[in-house]
Amino acid sequence: MIDSHILSFVHQTSRSVRLALEAAIRGGEVLLRFWQGLSSNRVGEKNRGDLVTQADIESENAIVNFLQKETPEWSVIAEEGTERAVSDMIWFVDPLDGTTNFVQRFPIFAISIGLARRLPNNSHDLLAGAVWNPISGEVFWGAKGEGSYCGLERLRVSTKERLADAVIGTGFPRAPEELPRYLREFAELYPHCRAIRRPGAASLDLCWTAQGIYDAFWEHCLAPWDIAAGSLIVMEAGGICSDFRGDARYLKSGNILAASPVLHQQILMILRPLQSDKH
Ligand code: IPD
Ligand code: CA
Ligand code: CA
Repeated sequence: MIDSHILSFVHQTSRSVRLALEAAIRGGEVLLRFWQGLSSNRVGEKNRGDLVTQADIESENAIVNFLQKETPEWSVIAEEGTERAVSDMIWFVDPLDGTTNFVQRFPIFAISIGLARRLPNNSHDLLAGAVWNPISGEVFWGAKGEGSYCGLERLRVSTKERLADAVIGTGFPRAPEELPRYLREFAELYPHCRAIRRPGAASLDLCWTAQGIYDAFWEHCLAPWDIAAGSLIVMEAGGICSDFRGDARYLKSGNILAASPVLHQQILMILRPLQSDKH
C-alpha cells in the first residue's frame, strides 16, 4: 500500500492529482487480488495479441465508479469500454497497463490515470497524472506546473549529453503496417546508443524516463490512456514529449518520443528523416 507520508504530501497539491492517485489505488487493489490468486482471472483476446482479463475489467469498474462519483461533471475514457463524454475535461484511464505481462506473471504492470483538457483545435492540455506500480509499491505523480514525483522524490530526466551513453526504452507496434517503419528506426538508433529495453508497460516506460532510469523512450501507436499520465510526468521532470517529427500532438497519433531536451534533439535528428513517405 502507499505510505501515509506520500498521501499527505499529495494531499497538499491539487485535487485532481489526489483523485488520480486515489483512483489508481482502487484499481491497484483489484489487480493485487487477482495477482495474488485470491480471485481467478479469465483471459480473452480482443484482437490478435491484445488481451483482456477479468482483472482489467474489474479494475476499470472500480476506477470509473470512483471518478464518476467524485467528478460527475468530467468525461472518462478508459481502455476497456468506458466512454463518458460530458465535458472537455477528460480522465484517460488504463486500468491495467501491461496485461500480457500480468497474464504471463512478468511483474511489470501499472495503473495509469491522466487528466487532460481538450482544446478547441482538438489537441490536449495535460493537467495531472498518477501511475502506480503495485508490485514495487512506487507511485509516480505530477501536476502541470507543480513538478512530478516518485513518492516524495522529485523527478528529473537524464542529464546525459551523448546518445552513445543512452539507454532507451521502447515498445513494439502491434499494427503490421507500422512494423517496417519501426524496424528501420530501431536499426538506425540501436548502433548509436548504449542499449535498448522493452519491458511492456508504456506508462512505466515514461515514468522511468522521467526518473532518468531510461535516458529516452519511443513507441508507435499508443493510446491516450497509455501515455496521458506518463508524458505529463516526463514534462514536469524537465523532459520533452513529441511525435517523431517534433510535433507536440503525440496524444492524438500515439507516436511518442520522450527524453531530456538534449537527447530529444539528437534522437529526433535520426527519427525525423524516416517519417517521410518514401520510407
Ligand atoms: C500495452 C503496453 C505495452 C505497449 C502496448 C500497449 P496494455 O498496454 O503499454 O508496453 O507496447 O502497445 O497496448 O494493452 O497492456 O494496456
Ligand atoms: Ca496500456
Ligand atoms: Ca490496459
